[in-house]
Amino acid sequence: MSERAADETDGTTEAGHPEGVRPRVVLGVGGGIAAYKACELLRRLTESGHDVTVVPTEAALAFVGAPTWAALSGKPVATDVWTGVHEVPHVRIGQQADLVVVAPATADLLARAAHGLADDLLTNTLLTARCPVVLAPAMHTEMWENAATVANVETLRSRGVLVVEPAEGRLTGADTGKGRLPEPAELFEVCTEVLARGADAADLLGRRVVVSAGGTREYLDPVRFLGNRSSGLQGYALARAAAARGAEVTLVAANVGLPDPAGVTVVRVESTADLREAVLAATADADAVVMAAAPADFRPASFTDAKIKKADDGSAPAIELVQNPDILREISGGDSGERARKDSVIVGFAAETGDATGSVLDLARAKLARKGCDLLVVNDVSGGAVFGSPDNEAVILGADGAAVEVPHGSKSALAHRIWDEVARRFTN
Ligand code: CTP
Repeated sequence: MSERAADETDGTTEAGHPEGVRPRVVLGVGGGIAAYKACELLRRLTESGHDVTVVPTEAALAFVGAPTWAALSGKPVATDVWTGVHEVPHVRIGQQADLVVVAPATADLLARAAHGLADDLLTNTLLTARCPVVLAPAMHTEMWENAATVANVETLRSRGVLVVEPAEGRLTGADTGKGRLPEPAELFEVCTEVLARGADAADLLGRRVVVSAGGTREYLDPVRFLGNRSSGLQGYALARAAAARGAEVTLVAANVGLPDPAGVTVVRVESTADLREAVLAATADADAVVMAAAPADFRPASFTDAKIKKADDGSAPAIELVQNPDILREISGGDSGERARKDSVIVGFAAETGDATGSVLDLARAKLARKGCDLLVVNDVSGGAVFGSPDNEAVILGADGAAVEVPHGSKSALAHRIWDEVARRFTN
């Protein structure tokens, strides 16, 4: 946080910043075609009450001109250190920022940032910033995978810079691959998450985590399936929060229609069998696994290739079900207690309603022991309240006896509390 924001702490706004204080964001723009997407990011930042100074590189102006940046930010725009020298912009802009975000960051810009060059206003700003720095690279796959870029990204990350993994998809020409700038709406989410955390933003840097989300579908025939009400919102909030804290995130998503969170590798699955395969593959070298998905406990014993027809006599087919494997229990070590990685932290979710045999928390404690995981996030779902809702409340139970109550709040707030508890349990 800049001095200004830290001093004025009376009450906070919905966006989490002190009332009357507009967080100062520097939006750096590199010279790539994705510069046009930064206009939408700028728009979202200003409309949500941020004070944004745009610092494009000279090359960025070849893609989107200074009048656009000036009009959208309401401020003059400069690329060099010689404009308004009496205000010492080459140090002032960086010093006063609460967040510096560069989108798109080109290979050239990553190289200059990694080597501490200061040959324009943006690189000067990166050198003087004391706040969190987010770089969102966009370039062709070959440039992203080049050993020089890989080394530069590693250097920047080792210094605490949050370098957002580019998305896969259509690039400038007809080609596709890794290198796309994530969607502006998702970059905006990264910015707000990082701003809310301030100086501790990147505490999961260097960690690999796996999150599962959504509800599985168990097909009876090519058109019908057994499913459940899981929306995937909590799992996506977990993935987003972990990525904003610097983790390398694999999100195994079962039938979720939400946009891919920025910087997250999304693996799409349908059935519990697919989910199990994807989670096991990603778990081998993961520091943490959070099973927020709702895998179906049962699947039809058989699958019919042709659509099941109605019988003329009005009878309905009996559907025989078999039990699915318990993925959480398997990755937690099952009966043997052996895990893919002994020091991994494994988290389960339990949606409970309580019954004649015990209260929600009694049942959850028993489930925690049965599953063998380290943490169990317990939702009381009597009445179906959490499904599809942007909010949640829970108790996080630890195998070590901990019980952390998380009051009603956003799924993002719960996600951060879960990662706090996970981070506390890392032993290496
Ligand atoms: N889970 C799993 N594999 C399954 C079912 C559930 O990994 N086949 C995980 C869920 O992702 C969740 C946790 O186990 O993290 C608890 O899910 P829940 O449905 O509450 O557990 P069940 O074992 O199915 O218990 P119950 O008999 O109460 O339904």
